[in-house]
Parts: sequence; C-alpha cells; structure tokens
Amino acid sequence: MDDINRDSEELKEEEPVEEVLDMEDIPHTNEEQSKFFSSSFNLFLNSVFPVLIIDKDLKIIVANSACENLFTNFFNLHGSYFTDVFGKAFEMDDIRKIRETVIKGENGYSWKGETRIKSRDMVSVQVRVYLFPAGLDIKEPHEFIVMFDDVTEENRRLLRSVFMSLLEASKLKDNDTGKHIMRVNYYSKRIAEELYTNYNEKYIRIDADFIDNIGFLASMHDVGKIGTPDDILNKEGPLSDWEWSIMREHTKNGAFILSTYPNPMAKEIALSHHERWDGNGYPFQLEGDMIPLAARIVTIADVYDALRMERSYKPSLNHSVTVEKMMEDKETHFDPFIIDVFYSIADDFNRLYEENKDKKTTQD
Ligand SMILES: [Fe+2]
Ligand SMILES: [Fe+2]
Repeated sequence: MDDINRDSEELKEEEPVEEVLDMEDIPHTNEEQSKFFSSSFNLFLNSVFPVLIIDKDLKIIVANSACENLFTNFFNLHGSYFTDVFGKAFEMDDIRKIRETVIKGENGYSWKGETRIKSRDMVSVQVRVYLFPAGLDIKEPHEFIVMFDDVTEENRRLLRSVFMSLLEASKLKDNDTGKHIMRVNYYSKRIAEELYTNYNEKYIRIDADFIDNIGFLASMHDVGKIGTPDDILNKEGPLSDWEWSIMREHTKNGAFILSTYPNPMAKEIALSHHERWDGNGYPFQLEGDMIPLAARIVTIADVYDALRMERSYKPSLNHSVTVEKMMEDKETHFDPFIIDVFYSIADDFNRLYEENKDKKTTQD
C-alpha cells in the first residue's frame, strides 16, 4: 500500500502541470474570453492545413496563409461573412446546416461536408470541409475553426486511373495507336484553348475546367470499340452494310461505358463524335448546335488525325492536303465556325502531329 502511494506521488512530481489548463483559468466575460482564446488561434494559423476562424455570426475573423493560398484566385476572404464568400460553392442545404451547427450547436457544434470551388479562369478545386468549435471545451463556443482539405488531385488521380485502365483495355483491341489517342487529346485541347482565349463571348461555356477535361476525355472517344467484334474492327478492306451498322454501335457502347463518369462531357464525346453538322452523321443524325460542343471539337481533331495517319487500307495525307480536304467539308461535316478556328491554328495541328508521330508512319 505504501509502495503504491509512493509511486503515485513520484508520478505527480513528474507531471508537467503548467500544460494542464484549469477551467477556472478561463475568463468569465466575453471580451476577456476572446483575448484568451485568440492566443490559442496561433496554433491553427501556423498550420499547413488551410484554416479559417469564423465567429458565431459566421463572420470570417482570420484566414491562415495556407487558406489564402488555396483560395487566392477565387475569393477575397478578409472581412467577409462565410456565407457571402462560400454561398455559391455550397448547396443551400449545406449552408443551412452550417448555420444551425454554429447557432444551435447541432452535432456538438461540428459539421463535415465536401464541395467544389469554381471560377471560369481556374481549374476548380475540390475540398473536404470540417467545421468545429475553436478554443477549449466551454458550453457555448464563440469562434469556430473551418478546416479545408484539398482533395482535387487525389480525386482526379483516382477517377482517371480507373478510366485509363478502360482505355488501355480498349487499345488492346483497336488498330488505332496510343499516339492517335494522345494527338486527338492535344488537338482538342488546343481548339478549346483558342475558343476560350479569342472567342470568349461566343463560347462562354468554355472555362478552365472545360479545357482541363476535354483533353483527357477526347482520348476516350473510341473506348466503345471494346465491344466491337475483332473480325469487324480489324477487317482489312471495306466493311459490308451490316458490318458498318455493328461498327457504328461503338458510339453508343462508349456512352454506356462512360455513363458513370461524373462529367457528362465524357458521354457526349463518345456518343456524338461521328455526328455531322448537316445531320448526316451517326448514331442519331443530330444537326448543328444539337451536337454537343465538346463532340464538335473532337470530330475535327479525330478527322484531322485519321487523314494524317497511314493505315493498312490508305496512305497518309500531308498537312496541307488534309487541311484543304477538311475545309471542303466546312458546312457539311464540321461546325463551320470551329473549322475556321481550326484553319487559323492549323500550323499547331501540324506541329503536334510531327511531335507525336507514330514511328511506323511514312514520311509525308
Ligand atoms: Fe469513333
Ligand atoms: Fe479516333
């Protein structure tokens, strides 16, 4: 018994008592409390995680530098209310829950959610958001920490790696080379950049996300060929009408495969990259603007590359003949405005083709 008492006394002596905060140390008035707690905010402000401190009225008191960096191109965080700054980024229901968390103390004054922060000129940022009371365990907190976890890259990598595997699987079957897929990616992105930069008002829908997505998704345009029988896909010589009808199914199969992709652009490209401006394409004979914009862009990229490529059943065409031939189809096959834009940047297409040429292709 004596030993036990002695041990516990020795333990007490070694305890770093100065680190233990007594509830009686906490000041009683609001003013004193806010001074007292502001010193503990320093811990959060030095954090490498993006952190905001807001008050009970949802006014942003301070943002740490990691938070400033994360949102520097999106918001001005200073002196604003959380709901004013992030109002458009969250669903109405989330905003309501955040209010109730702070005001009514639901779920222990804590809330967790996820959102995407968008702007036209910046690729959007996807964040997980954690809200919890700041300071110590008192009955009614006056300040709250909002911590953001930037999961943009993590989510993008995860999503794209799944669909890259599908693309790899389709490449095992298809005659088209990996370089064709890569070039269609580059050309499509180049057209989108040009429309964004120089035809901003006409193509208001084209933003940084559109440009970021179209490259990757253009490369998936023929993923539906994974469902096309090998003897039709690899047939040397012309296809019969029946074989063509099977071949055309790759557009619908592609849309089906990509139906779970969160951005509808994936499905639009796969489904509509063989539609024609005059309504004589497939699978649905869509006409003009009825064809999704991303698909109209990819059609131009795909046809340019198909003409440049040497195939077992056709020689490759050089750049100027390819451009000439495509311009003849201005009003029939292609969107007449976008084909003119293509014409204005056609040198870039040639450069991209040359830089990413298949080794087996003969010199033009
Ligand atoms: Fe196709
Ligand atoms: Fe293609």
